[in-house]
Amino acid sequence: MRRTAGRTRYNRLVDYVVKHGAALRGGVTVPGDKSISHRAIVLSAIAEGRSRIRGLLRSEDVLATLRAFRQMGVAIDESSDGSVTVEGVGRDGLRSPAADLDLGNSGTAMRLLAGLLAGQNLSATLTGDESLLTRPMRRVAVPLERMGARIATSADGRPPLRIQPGGRLRGIRYRMPQASAQVKSALLLAGMYASGETCVEEPAVTRDHTERMMATFGCGCRRNGNVVCVSGGGALSGVDLDVPGDLSSAAFFIAGGALAPGSNVMLSGVGINPTRTGVLDILERMGADVRIENRRSAGNEPVADIHVRPMPLTGVEIPAHQVSLAIDEFPAIAVVAACAEGQTRVRGAEELRHKESDRIRAIVCGLRALGIDAEERDDGMDITGARFKGGTVDSFGDHRIAMAFCMAALRADGPVVVRNCDNIATSFPGFVDAAARLGMDIAVP
Ligand code: S3P
Repeated sequence: MRRTAGRTRYNRLVDYVVKHGAALRGGVTVPGDKSISHRAIVLSAIAEGRSRIRGLLRSEDVLATLRAFRQMGVAIDESSDGSVTVEGVGRDGLRSPAADLDLGNSGTAMRLLAGLLAGQNLSATLTGDESLLTRPMRRVAVPLERMGARIATSADGRPPLRIQPGGRLRGIRYRMPQASAQVKSALLLAGMYASGETCVEEPAVTRDHTERMMATFGCGCRRNGNVVCVSGGGALSGVDLDVPGDLSSAAFFIAGGALAPGSNVMLSGVGINPTRTGVLDILERMGADVRIENRRSAGNEPVADIHVRPMPLTGVEIPAHQVSLAIDEFPAIAVVAACAEGQTRVRGAEELRHKESDRIRAIVCGLRALGIDAEERDDGMDITGARFKGGTVDSFGDHRIAMAFCMAALRADGPVVVRNCDNIATSFPGFVDAAARLGMDIAVP
């Protein structure tokens, strides 16, 4: 098996060859937000009546969630106008699936479904690809068991997750050891099926899409500081929803526009939920010219257009409290940091080791392969800005590592080969086309 930071063995490796020295110019609309798309399917499936979702992300991860609900008896229709109609089966209407639910590469799908299914009177096995099978699941299984769920992980706390019908769940108060929106969301979903109140305390702010969307469907949570609570027994009603563009996908072009001389990029219709915008704050502190224009809202989420132009960049300290606000953007931030004057230090980011790859290791390996001085720390990294040379970077099968290092080519002395890019399809299926529209030259065999 070829890896140190990643987890997957691949039969088929697709490498991208990115020509160096382009500028990003023009506008693109990035596809729908992945986190919001998963939640839109989950909540519309258990609502009473029909929901219509516009702008749903059609990536491999989200399609895995969609297939899982079809396996549990939910009728989901994909219309020719691009919208998706979900015929909700009501809070107790899901059926035990006849086969395992294969959630592919998606940690979000697995953890959200663990919470939702823990409260149902059904049996299901949640499994996934080789990467997902290595990801930690005790963080959801332990609190769900405390609520009374019957849920088993493998001996070392990994998937598959086997869920059995249990009695009625009991509400708990739980302080999460990690700042995780996936764990919080799993417990809130289970809390809808529990007696009394379920309260989750977060050690740092995490994305609040579940809370916002539960309110849209008519089952609100209450927040008091860093504690969010839901009462059991609520019912959801079907709605029409618009999914904003994914800031985590836009982040690659924001990074590219900030680091490539001569760039001028406009990203339209991007979600700017304040629990996600750490990347914008960090890049602005580095000196990037990132402007938020035309603020509006979609589906109870704030949305805007983001205009980016390059400026001289300076390295920064990224404090621990900002990490959860930019948790998925560190690959893109690291590539920008490598183009900045001086050092960028990231601390308090141990969670990055538990993503689709060990992202601390994958980022540092990639930066070094392109001639940058980067050091791994247990809970972060130090990056000293310089000039990228051309070279070959391994993505370790991680979509975000792959897309971030495509951007490095914009400021490199030679072409950059990014190995193992298949999994870009898990979050951003049109990435190569969008990059080409902005002026990048990516050769895909
Ligand atoms: C997500 C939450 C984050 C993030 C992931 C999506 C979500 O994970 O990294 O890509 O949709 O809730 P954690 O909550 O585990 O940090």
